[in-house]
Amino acid sequence: MKLPELRIGNLKPKYPIIQGGMAVRISTAPLAAAVANAGGIGLIAASGMDVEELKQEIRWARENFRGIIGINIMFAVSKFTQLVYAALEEGIDLIVQGAGFSRDIFKWSSEAHTPLVPIVSTPKLARVSESLGASAVVVEGKEAGGHLGTLESIRKILPLVKQAISIPVIAAGGIIDALDMKEAFQLGADGVQMGIRFAASVESNAAPNLKEVYIKAKQEDIVLIDSPVGLRGRAIRNEFSEKINTEHDLTPESCVGCLKKCKQNFCIMDALVNAQQGNLKNGLIFSGEYIDKITDILPAGEIIRKLVEDYEKL
Ligand SMILES: Cc1cc2nc3c(=O)[nH]c(=O)nc-3n(C[C@H](O)[C@H](O)[C@H](O)COP(=O)(O)O)c2cc1C
Repeated sequence: MKLPELRIGNLKPKYPIIQGGMAVRISTAPLAAAVANAGGIGLIAASGMDVEELKQEIRWARENFRGIIGINIMFAVSKFTQLVYAALEEGIDLIVQGAGFSRDIFKWSSEAHTPLVPIVSTPKLARVSESLGASAVVVEGKEAGGHLGTLESIRKILPLVKQAISIPVIAAGGIIDALDMKEAFQLGADGVQMGIRFAASVESNAAPNLKEVYIKAKQEDIVLIDSPVGLRGRAIRNEFSEKINTEHDLTPESCVGCLKKCKQNFCIMDALVNAQQGNLKNGLIFSGEYIDKITDILPAGEIIRKLVEDYEKL
């Protein structure tokens, strides 16, 4: 089978594959650049970075590889506006916006002639995005890793979103191999966004022991937690997720105010940084639902090459 073409504004990647942004510092410049270089779209996760760090990341990616590089930014973070402006100043190719919805960002990105791609989970928000000028949407189902905007399956929402809008629709959540891509394209997707498959790659910035957890985890190890952001989150069960789910008192002793609104049931920033750095006892290990399909750590370019090769054989 031939892969469909994905167009996002004036951007046309060789393959319709986006590496999902993964905070905090799981998808940094080396991963985004490797994906872009292999013909996909690579996303640097901006949430949790400061402005200077994000600028350096974008410059490093540009200097080291060719291809399409974007940022992913969560609306929920306090530095949302500064980080978006920093990325636009650095001439980023596109912005993907998750975990909440800003109307202002449509104006900023349009002034900079930079495609904006909101993450949505309902046809209604997809329609609003299109009317505000989005170049495409990512539609994310409950199968996805990280924060969830819905508990409905991608299989149910994707056709509804596709019907509702005429801009490209990129499917996310539970897409690991070529067969998953085929199903997404048959349900109407114009592209796919994949998270956890790329978190378990050589260029991912996850600590080596975290990558080991990714390739050993089974589907029954996957849990939902209540995030301080006010959304559900999908993660791999460990001591820390059990503490969250048994309502241990994890109220942070200090707070740097990284979120606009925080429920303070635990510190999401510390928990994600701990996981990324390999302190798994105190870390929150975000993961997609189909983690058990991932059994090896491969270079990102090899992941893309294999996806394309397997897809073309279908
Ligand atoms: C470790 C991890 C961190 C994530 N962080 C973010 C994030 O910062 N912003 C965001 O919009 N989505 C985030 N996501 C969601 C991914 O970008 C992607 O949409 C999702 O993982 C797709 O599902 P999959 O993992 O089954 O492929 C994260 C996912 C994972 C696994």
